[in-house]
Amino acid sequence: MAVISWLAALFYLPRLLAYHANATVGSETSETFKIMEHRLIRIIMTPAMVMAWLTGVLLAWGQSFYLEGWFLVKFVLVLAMSAFHGLCVSWHKTFEQDANTKTNAFFRMINEVPTLLMVIIVILVVLKPF
Ligand code: HEM
Repeated sequence: MAVISWLAALFYLPRLLAYHANATVGSETSETFKIMEHRLIRIIMTPAMVMAWLTGVLLAWGQSFYLEGWFLVKFVLVLAMSAFHGLCVSWHKTFEQDANTKTNAFFRMINEVPTLLMVIIVILVVLKPF
C-alpha cells in the first residue's frame, strides 16, 4: 500500500509541475497549483515514502535479503527514487517562491524517471535474477 501510494504521487507531482510551468506567476491558477502540490507532498507523497522505507527495511531484515544481489541493486534504485522525490520537493519550493525557471517540456520529460525505476525494481524483486 505504501509503495502504490508513493508511486501514484511520484507519477502525479511532475505532471502538476509541468502544468504549473505554463501558468503565469502570481495568477490564481499558479496559486492553486502551489496548494495542490503542497498537499500532495505533505499528505500523501512523504508519508508514503516513509512507510515504504519502514516496511521495506523490516521485510529485508526479517528475511536477510540484504545479502542478495537483486536486493542490493533494488536498494540503489530505491535510493534513486528517494532522490527524485527530494528533487520534486525542491522544484515545488521554487514555484512557491515564484522562482521557477524550468519548462513544461522539462517536467514532462522527467516524469518518465519514476516509471522507469519502477519497472526495473519490480522485475528485480519478483524475478530475483541474481
Ligand atoms: C523503500 C525501500 C524498500 C525496501 C527496503 C524494500 C524491500 C523489499 C523486500 C525485502 C521485499 C520482500 C521480497 C520477498 O519477500 O520476496 C520486497 C517486496 C517487494 N517490493 Fe520492495 N522494498 C522497498 C521499496 C520498494 C519500491 C519503491 C517498490 C516499487 C517500485 C517495491 C516493490 C516491491 C514488490 C513488487 C515486492 C513484492 C515482490 C513479491 O512479492 O514477489 N519495493 N521489498
